[in-house]
Amino acid sequence: MELSVLWKLSYGMYAIGTLDGTRPTGCIVNTVAQITSTNPVIAVSMNKNNFTYEAIKKTGRFTVSILTEKTAPNVIAKLGFCSGRDTDKFDGKDFAWKALDGLPVVKDNCAGHLVAEVLSMTEVETHYIILARVKDAQPCTNFAPMTYKYYHEVIKGSAPKNAPTYQASAAQKTTSGSTTEKWVCSICGYVYEGDLTKEPADWVCPICKQPKSKFVKQ
Ligand SMILES: Cc1cc2nc3c(=O)[nH]c(=O)nc-3n(C[C@H](O)[C@H](O)[C@H](O)COP(=O)(O)O)c2cc1C
Repeated sequence: MELSVLWKLSYGMYAIGTLDGTRPTGCIVNTVAQITSTNPVIAVSMNKNNFTYEAIKKTGRFTVSILTEKTAPNVIAKLGFCSGRDTDKFDGKDFAWKALDGLPVVKDNCAGHLVAEVLSMTEVETHYIILARVKDAQPCTNFAPMTYKYYHEVIKGSAPKNAPTYQASAAQKTTSGSTTEKWVCSICGYVYEGDLTKEPADWVCPICKQPKSKFVKQ
């Protein structure tokens, strides 16, 4: 079996928003899919270890912010590489958010926002497949929705272990066959192509904002 075939599946990029009591929290997922058309139901694959899973279980509702190619990297860094267990992700310092039907959504540059109510959670290995009824859907901009491919190939971001599409052997790969020098961010997996030593001392990872010292030469 050649697992790399799975990389050819297509996905989008989304920010899930929910509440931990009254505190907004959430995370990045690439696994939102529409399951039914009438009275639409969506599915999300959520890692059991994600704090967002616990919050959704308690709240029973969540939002989906459909990210676009204009979404600031800070949104993905804060929501996709930190945990709401120890980080106040919606503290307003790295990106702006607003409430929609009482739940947090990313304010700027999204293609649209959904509000969904949980119907069921089915345990599948490391994840829960959350089925949820769409209760509200609001358009935002006409910017191109960010695909997972765009995130990997243009932004050169990677996915952490909790993403269902994570494959350890692929975590540090970019364009195959390239002989360019590569430096990999040990925090988020972002791949810098070229001579990183030539960047200024205050250069930081565009995804997770870590300094050059966190990069390992491949
Ligand atoms: C590009 C990308 C895609 C991701 N996709 C998923 C996903 O589909 N499901 C999931 O459970 N986690 C996914 N994650 C991982 C979570 O966003 C990440 O583990 C986050 O830190 C969880 O935060 P929390 O503990 O506050 O819930 C993804 C992360 C990134 C950066």
